[in-house]
Formats: sequence, structure tokens, C-alpha cells
Amino acid sequence: MPVLAKCGGTPLRTKKDPRWTVSGEREKEYLSRALAADTAGPDGPLNREFRERFARFSDVKHCFTVANGTVSIELILRAYGIGYGDEVIVTPYTFIASISSLIYAGVKPVFADVDPETFQLSPEAAERAITPRTKAIMPVYVGGCPDRLDEFRRVCREHGLILIGDAAQAVGAEYGGRGVAACADVTSISCQNTKNLTCGEGGIILTDDDALADRIEAILHGGVNRYGVRTAIGLQNGMSEYQAAVLLAQLEALPSQIARRKENGAYLDARLGELDFVRALRRDPKLTTNAFHLYMFGLREEKLDGLTLGEFLSAVRAEGVSAAPGYKPVYTFPCMASDYVKKCVGSEIDLRPCTPAAERISYHEACWIWQYVLLGEKEDMDDCVNALRKVYENRAELLEGRKTK
Ligand SMILES: Cc1ncc(COP(=O)(O)O)c(C=O)c1O
Repeated sequence: MPVLAKCGGTPLRTKKDPRWTVSGEREKEYLSRALAADTAGPDGPLNREFRERFARFSDVKHCFTVANGTVSIELILRAYGIGYGDEVIVTPYTFIASISSLIYAGVKPVFADVDPETFQLSPEAAERAITPRTKAIMPVYVGGCPDRLDEFRRVCREHGLILIGDAAQAVGAEYGGRGVAACADVTSISCQNTKNLTCGEGGIILTDDDALADRIEAILHGGVNRYGVRTAIGLQNGMSEYQAAVLLAQLEALPSQIARRKENGAYLDARLGELDFVRALRRDPKLTTNAFHLYMFGLREEKLDGLTLGEFLSAVRAEGVSAAPGYKPVYTFPCMASDYVKKCVGSEIDLRPCTPAAERISYHEACWIWQYVLLGEKEDMDDCVNALRKVYENRAELLEGRKTK
């Protein structure tokens, strides 16, 4: 009789994952305030209230709310005057929006490799990728886990570059005891549907830089600055009051969700440590709060007797546990070689396989568990561990199944 669900056995788990998104009475209360207000636009009272509260929560002075986390990066680039002819150094191990935002702004993405021990952009690789055209380095805090930010600050300071944090996935992360946005010149957050603070679609920009804040303010107001002078090319990309209403309620729930994810994350750390085919990622000692948008770890493919990462994780999913294999390097996507991209950035992007560590983790090692799973109970974490163990211990069935196909 087969044991693995993938081969016809009984799945280890039939319980559904916790529901995401989570909402309740507070969302309804704030939304009725938004519906009753005189304006639904980005300058309304709920947007103002959210911006103030979220700036405080994030340990920075300025907070702007925008349409989404792609527009927020594009807007940051415009506010700095970074555009056509310029380069920004970025990881290829990210959601494509980190790159499409650069391309829409005419900026050439230059890919630097990740640290295989963390899956995060390596500061050394980023430094090696600097050219006379580089204007900024943009580490993406993949999974909500910022890494070696002091190194990035040093590199940026020494080379006169801007440090942009793509914290789309890192809402609530703390580094050195402070909100992660306090560690970069400017930070972008996404409030898209899957994110830990969500209003369906939305974006946030955070900065301590007063002059930058003035320029962002002007861009968001049709290009008109606070003295009424049209100083910038505007982008009408602010957030509606309805989105801000939902975010106000979501922000109230966030601290307890962060605490729950941290607790379950620590429990998973301990339990996964029992599995010798699992490789834990290194975490920066200065990371005081991991936002755990993703719980990430590596599989030791060499211990799987020839099974691929994809085959292994597909069998884990058949057991009822949502374990995903994660990103593929952005430069491998056909769209990156398109004429449109060349037109936007004015030159070809180097798409040769240039980041071996990112390729290795993408195709052979990386495994993700989504943030909403970490909102479950200890037994749900046990299910994750037990499903991995079950597939590993019965991997011969999968290998046998291959032969009969
Ligand atoms: C790393 C990263 N950067 C940027 C974005 C873009 O955000 P949005 O979907 O809100 O445009 C996302 C998510 O969607 C993301 O995961």
C-alpha cells in the first residue's frame, strides 16, 4: 500500500490553512467613517491618520500612501531624479515588481547575487556590481527578513549611492531594535492582497529625509509643491480613503499577528532543526523582528537520492501542507529580453546567468511556508514538519513512481 499521498496514500493533513485576509468589526467601523466623509481621495482624514500612525509605528518621520508597492518604488526613483541612463543594483531573487518598477522608470536593473546562507542580496556582490552609472542599491527584504543593513549603508556611503529598501514583504520588521525603514534612505512597502498588512492593493513610502518627502509630496499633488509651484511631473497615484480605512484596522491587528508569527517561527526553527535534510538560514543578529512574510529554509537536495526540489515539494503539498519552491531569477523570464524593456532602459540588460547562488537556491534548495500558515497553532507547525519528514522517509516511493511513469 502506498504511504505518500502523491502515490495514492492518505494525506497527513486535511485541515485548511488559516484564512487570509483577516478582517472584522474594526475594518467595518473605519470603512463606514470613510463612506460618510466628504472626500474619498488621498488627502482625506483616514489617509492622514494612517500616515501619522504608521510613521510612528515605523520609527520614521514621513509616510506616504500610494496605489501599490510597484508605484511606490517608481515614485521614489522619480523623486530622486533616477531615470533613463541610470542603474540600480538589485537581487534577481525577488518578485518581478522590484524590477518592473525600475524598468517603468527607465532605470536599468543590474543583478547582483544573493548570499546562499540567507537568500538575501549580498552586500559584497552589490559592491562589485557598482559602475559609474549606479545611483542606488535596492536590497529586497525577501520573506520579511532584512540582512546586513549596516554593510549596505557603508557601501552606499562610501560610493555616494542611495539605499532604497524594498520592504514590500517586511512590514513590521525591526533591525537593531528600530523599524527597518529607519535603516535605509527610503523604504517601499506593499499592501497587496498576500502581504502582512493589506488593503487588497496599496503601497507605502517611508523616509526620514525632509527634502525627499517634499519632492514626493509634490509629485503626488500633480507636481505642485507646498508653495503652490509646479516643480515636478506629477503622478496621481495616491491611495483612496477606503484603502486607508482598511489599513487603519489592519495596523491595529498587526502587533499581535507579528507576535504570533515570531512565536511559530521560533517553534519551526527548533522543530526543523531535527531534520538533517533541512538547512536553516542564517539570520542577522541585528534582526530584532523578522516579519515572517515567508518562513524560508533550504532543502539539502544532495540528501534526496536524486529527487528534485520540485518533486519533493509537490509531494509535501499532496500531504496537505502548503510548501512552495519560491522565485526563479528574474533575468530568466522571457519578458526581460523583450524589445519593450530595451526601449524603456535604452540598452540591453545583461541576462546571462550571472548569479550562481540565486540560481542554486531557486532551482535546488529554497522552500517557503507562507505567513498565514504561521498564524496557526503549534499543531499546524507540527504538520509542516511531519509532512516534510514523511516525504523524506518515503522518498523511495516517489523514485519508484518515476520508473513506472
Ligand atoms: C518584493 C516585492 N517588491 C515589490 C512588490 C510590488 O508590490 P505591489 O504588488 O503592491 O505592486 C511586491 C509584491 O507584490 C514584492 O513582493
